[in-house]
Amino acid sequence: MVQPKTLILSAVLAIGLTGLTGIALAEDQHGSVPERQSWSFGGPFGTFDQAQLQRGFKVYREVCSNCHGLSKVAFRNLAEEGGPGFTEAQVKALAAEYKVKDGPNDQGEMFERAGRASDRFPSPFPNPEAARASLGAIPPDMSLLAKARSYPRGTPLFLADPILQYQEHGVDYIYALLNGYSKKDDPNWNDYFPGNKIGMPNPLADGQVDYTDGTPATVKQYAKDVSAFLMWTAEPKLEERKKTGFRVIAFLILLAGLTYLTKRKIWANVAH
Ligand code: HEC
Repeated sequence: MVQPKTLILSAVLAIGLTGLTGIALAEDQHGSVPERQSWSFGGPFGTFDQAQLQRGFKVYREVCSNCHGLSKVAFRNLAEEGGPGFTEAQVKALAAEYKVKDGPNDQGEMFERAGRASDRFPSPFPNPEAARASLGAIPPDMSLLAKARSYPRGTPLFLADPILQYQEHGVDYIYALLNGYSKKDDPNWNDYFPGNKIGMPNPLADGQVDYTDGTPATVKQYAKDVSAFLMWTAEPKLEERKKTGFRVIAFLILLAGLTYLTKRKIWANVAH
């Protein structure tokens, strides 16, 4: 028979140990811990900032897309609700600027044509090996990157995050990474990359991308905007999810109230 005391003690010990390994991992392999940023899409009522998504897309297009694919995103997604809010005409014009591989034609040959709104973003390299041959490392596809990356929070934070609605680990990491080139004499040093040796030299510099809306053209701002854009590509239905969640909770509260009133009514004339 296991005593309840022993059980509680082992549980506390287990949680403590997980926490310690979490912290040890955070320090050993994971570089510095990214600082938490404030995002318009954070929290239970978060929404994307359309202007920010448009700027972030510009940064992706002019800088990151030279190496990173966005293979799960179609041009027409850019005009969908809850996204950067481009018009359909803008999306059509944008798609037409890309060359897309199609086919085979009647002769059995693949051919290139101008992109259409329904096409997905063509990748900069035909396959990962070609990317490695030219860059020395494989640039991951960016479609889901903001959700595929995280960092250990340690105990008790990892337990608290779901309750406090912290879901922006991935974007915080990407933002930190883009600002993490701290050693001038080592272009492959990044404070936040696991192991600190990254195969991507600093992709951003002040003034590199033209912002037409008066937003400061700085690395920090580019990093913020492109990270937000990557959050949208990873979770294009984020706004819908948060809205639905709110409606469900509101409904449950209402239902709880009605149930209580019903109970009162049913039991009103029963001696108890
Ligand atoms: C010159 C090519 C190049 C450009 C331009 C570039 N990257 Fe990369 N990126 C890479 C390579 C290569 C890797 C893989 C590095 C590694 O695994 O060591 C990478 C990795 C990354 C990672 C993943 C880090 C991880 O945890 O695995 C992120 C995030 C990233 N890049 C963001 C960006 C963003 C945002 C931009 C645009 C502002 C950008 N990159 C532009 C080549 C590039």
